[in-house]
Amino acid sequence: MKLSTVLGLTLLGVLTVIQSSTASTCTVTEYDVDDIATAISVCSKIVLNGISVPPGVTLNLNLKPGTRLTFQGTTTWGFYEWSGPLLNITGTDVEIRGVENHILDGRGSLWWDGKGEHGGKVKPLLFVLHGLQNSVVHDLNITNPPYHAIWIEDSDSVTTYDIFVNSSDGDTLGGHNTDGINVWRSNNVTLERTIVYNQDDCIALKSGTNIVVKNTYCFGGHGLSIGSVGGRDYNIVENVLISDSEIVRSDNGIRIKTVYGATGSVTNVTYEDTILNDINNYGIIIEGDYDINTGGPTGNATGGVPIKHFILRNVVGSVKPSGVNIYVLVKNATDWSWTGINVSGGKKADDCEGIPEDSGILC
Ligand SMILES: *[C@@H]1O[C@H](CO)[C@@H](O)[C@H](O)[C@H]1NC(C)=O
Ligand SMILES: *[C@@H]1O[C@H](CO)[C@@H](O)[C@H](O)[C@H]1NC(C)=O
Ligand SMILES: *[C@@H]1O[C@H](CO)[C@@H](O)[C@H](O)[C@H]1NC(C)=O
Ligand SMILES: *[C@@H]1O[C@H](CO)[C@@H](O)[C@H](O)[C@H]1NC(C)=O
Ligand SMILES: *[C@@H]1O[C@H](CO)[C@@H](O)[C@H](O)[C@H]1NC(C)=O
Ligand SMILES: *[C@@H]1O[C@H](CO)[C@@H](O)[C@H](O)[C@H]1NC(C)=O
Ligand SMILES: *[C@@H]1O[C@H](CO)[C@@H](O)[C@H](O)[C@H]1NC(C)=O
Ligand SMILES: *[C@@H]1O[C@H](CO)[C@@H](O)[C@H](O)[C@H]1NC(C)=O
Repeated sequence: MKLSTVLGLTLLGVLTVIQSSTASTCTVTEYDVDDIATAISVCSKIVLNGISVPPGVTLNLNLKPGTRLTFQGTTTWGFYEWSGPLLNITGTDVEIRGVENHILDGRGSLWWDGKGEHGGKVKPLLFVLHGLQNSVVHDLNITNPPYHAIWIEDSDSVTTYDIFVNSSDGDTLGGHNTDGINVWRSNNVTLERTIVYNQDDCIALKSGTNIVVKNTYCFGGHGLSIGSVGGRDYNIVENVLISDSEIVRSDNGIRIKTVYGATGSVTNVTYEDTILNDINNYGIIIEGDYDINTGGPTGNATGGVPIKHFILRNVVGSVKPSGVNIYVLVKNATDWSWTGINVSGGKKADDCEGIPEDSGILC
């Protein structure tokens, strides 16, 4: 039995499902496109229990308004070299969640080769939330994504909470570019209580407006980032509040990257109440010289993506002795206010450029 509904008792067969009320629960226990389509069309509550998705197939769930989707057991995907995504969910007014002990297992080690997106095997993105509107995503455990774990794209009014991405195995097995959550072309997004153990950005906001990121714990990885901004089809980041975060043993703590030679803007961004712990390279790094092609700095900033109205409030903690506490290389920045900053333990940068002159900020 691949598909069943529960109406107090279990009913068998698709026809029975169609005749039953839309308030029923459909449980799908094997990957079958038709069963999944039936479940989506007839049930407002869907449980995917222990699904194994075949290689090279996206688990595509274009949900009807009001659907509650629940992951149960272990969801896996077969190995295939492609860009994915492994899971793609679209919907309005939907709720997506996992129950205790479920796992979305990306089995990343099958793809990992230490090269991430820069060569070697072609690695699929794990989970895309595409065009999600007015929806909630919570209590999801994602493990070992082959590449980025989650993208929220072209979405509006989405809240996530209690999302746990654990890619720690990648530390020793060649995980790279295993971003936790990326947000782009999305507005009114709240990410609460996210925990990420990985080897790239913990959370990266690439474009969008009205974004709140609260209570994040990042371990390993590259820190809480905005960017890179510029060089894509939408290059605005505006009205962002990132608060109550802890970033541990990561390459960076707080990072903003804007793209060299590009246009766009980063406006009204606040990071507050952030604790850094044992950061490897940069406690705070704000750079306007990012080369989108090489994925590294050019050494010269350009001012086409100005960082305006940028507030840091109460950012404290430690950088390793070989790292740098604070580094800034930008052009055309205005209206910065940093207060309660105490990042120590690392070196002082030789040179910081482009800090607005009236801000009183010292590098
Ligand atoms: C995700 O699903 C939506 C809706 O079905 C579709 O429009 C979109 O192209 C899909 N994205 C990918 C990358 O498959
Ligand atoms: C996710 O995993 C963590 C750590 O293993 C566990 O504490 C938590 O209960 C899990 N959450 C769910 C919804 O399964
Ligand atoms: C992450 O997963 C690994 C195994 O894949 C496990 O050993 C480790 O305890 C997990 N981390 C947390 C914080 O649950
Ligand atoms: C989402 O954000 C946009 C742009 O900031 C705003 O115009 C819109 O009203 C917001 N939508 C909701 C539902 O709050
Ligand atoms: C700046 O962003 C914050 C969210 O961090 C928002 O509450 C505030 O209204 C924004 N300010 C302006 C002038 O839009
Ligand atoms: C950086 O700026 C210096 C001096 O303005 C210039 O000589 C050099 O060519 C620039 N480098 C790049 C990569 O644009
Ligand atoms: C500085 O930013 C403004 C927009 O705020 C833009 O019009 C201008 O071209 C930028 N200047 C440089 C040198 O990039
Ligand atoms: C900054 O933090 C360091 C290490 O925690 C501490 O020793 C120092 O007193 C703090 N400085 C200020 C000005 O609070």
